[in-house]
Order: sequence, then C-alpha cells, then structure tokens
Amino acid sequence: MTGQQGRIAGKRAFVTGGASGLGLDIVRRFVAEGAEVVIADIDAAAGEALAADLGQRFIRLDVSREEEWIAAFDTCDRLDILVNNAGITTHGSIEALTLEAFRYEFSIDVDGVFLGCKHVIPMMKDHGGSVINMSSMCGVRAQADLAAYNAAKAAVTHLTKSVALHYARQGYGIRCNSVHPGAIHTPILDKVMAQVEDGQALYESWVATHPIGRLGKPEEISAIILYLASDESAFATGAEFRIDGGSSL
Ligand SMILES: NC(=O)c1ccc[n+]([C@@H]2O[C@H](COP(=O)([O-])OP(=O)(O)OC[C@H]3O[C@@H](n4cnc5c(N)ncnc54)[C@H](O)[C@@H]3O)[C@@H](O)[C@H]2O)c1
Repeated sequence: MTGQQGRIAGKRAFVTGGASGLGLDIVRRFVAEGAEVVIADIDAAAGEALAADLGQRFIRLDVSREEEWIAAFDTCDRLDILVNNAGITTHGSIEALTLEAFRYEFSIDVDGVFLGCKHVIPMMKDHGGSVINMSSMCGVRAQADLAAYNAAKAAVTHLTKSVALHYARQGYGIRCNSVHPGAIHTPILDKVMAQVEDGQALYESWVATHPIGRLGKPEEISAIILYLASDESAFATGAEFRIDGGSSL
C-alpha cells in the first residue's frame, strides 16, 4: 500500500534511529501504510541504503546536537509524525558507572527526545500531529545493572507527559505519547550483551523476566507506533503504552 492508501496515507513522518532495529521496522511499516518518511540516523551508510531501497529520504542526524535538529527540520516543509526512537543502552550499576558514561546515555536518550519535541512544534502546530517517544519497560521497572538507562527512560516517560500537556493547552493539536517495549531482539541487545562477560546468561535472564516466555518482535512494537501515528489514536495523549510481555507487572 502506498500514496493514497493506508492507515497514514499522505502523512509525512520523521523517524530517528530509523536505520536499524525497531526504527527500521517502523519506517518499513509507515511506508507500507502510505506515509512519506524521513529516515534520520547517525549511521549514514545504513540509513542511505534503507532510504534508497524504500525510495524515501535520509538525513544524517546526531539527536544529541541541537544545531543538527534545526538543520534537519529546515529541509522539511511540514511534518505530521515524529518518532523519537534513537537510543543507546549503557550497561552498569550506580557503583560501576562513571559520570561520563551516565551523561553520555542522557545526551542521546533524553536530550535527543527533548530536542525533537521542542523543535518539531513549528513543523506541526498549524495542522496538528503525533509525537511518539520511545521509552522502555526499563523506564517503568528498574534493574540494578542499568542505572543510567533506567534513569534516562524514566525521564522520557515523564517528559512526554509534560510535553503532552503543553501541546494540548496551547491548542496546537499535537499529541505526545510514550511507548514502553519489553526486551525485543534487535542489534541494541547484541550491543548490551557485548558489554558483559556472559552475554548468553544475560539474554536468558531477560527471557525469564517476561511472563509471556519470550522476547518481543520488532513488528509487535511498530504495530502500536502505527496506531499512535494514525488518527485512530486521536484521543490519546500523555499516555504510556506498555508492550512488554508482562515484564512490568
Ligand atoms: N530492543 C529493545 O529491547 C528495546 C526495548 C525497549 C526500548 N528500546 C528502545 O528502542 C529504541 C530503538 O532501539 P533498537 O533496539 O532498535 O536499537 P538499535 O541499536 O538497533 O537501533 C538504534 C538506532 O539509533 C541510532 N542512533 C544511536 N545513537 C544515535 C544518535 N546519537 N543520533 C541518531 N541516531 C542514533 C543507531 O545508529 C541505530 O540505527 C531505543 O530508544 C531503545 O532504547 C529498545
């Protein structure tokens, strides 16, 4: 389905971290449902290859850098959907983490979302839109060995609510929601496993924390993102959408 057909036909979307994992699946789903998509990522090789494959546009963007957001949005006429999906996961407890590692995690996972929510306003406020922030089950339930990531994703959860209130009270017609996946097997998990001694044991411990008995699949996350991007979710704002196999229970 393209162009005139589909659940988000004719809408213009901007997806950060769109070159890999969940972002890549979201981009494919959006295109299949009729949207025009800007793929924004720090990984230019993967982003350009995906854009060429799908006939969409790629912009190299480091979400932690305000000037790059401004330059990227300067090249977009108007947007209907922003998915603040780019993120990293830093492994480590409060005792193990350096302040530098903690701040680096925040510079991408929190500053990146703050900057997207802020600078997208002029792109949407005349006609409305949907902003979707990728938090995590880790923004709801804490783990001892993910202090920086827990704190960053909890910050995204609450920032989303403040942003949603502001957009609504200003009458912009822009909605803002957060999505909280459980563990989904994408390259980010391989990167976390590479940070520890026994990656396989860590993987099995993740499975064990999901009452449903398995990790999730990217398409199970892009399904909810598509709903939030579409007008079907017109009354949803400031909400936390948990899709985590029961792991936050
Ligand atoms: N995979 C999971 O289990 C899981 C669970 C909950 C939440 N999440 C969140 O979902 C999002 C996507 O994760 P994923 O699993 O697809 O990971 P991934 O590593 O496959 O993809 C992340 C993408 O973000 C990009 N990126 C990283 N730093 C960037 C920066 N500074 N600027 C722009 N782009 C940058 C990477 O190049 C990559 O394309 C992240 O925010 C992550 O925290 C993932």
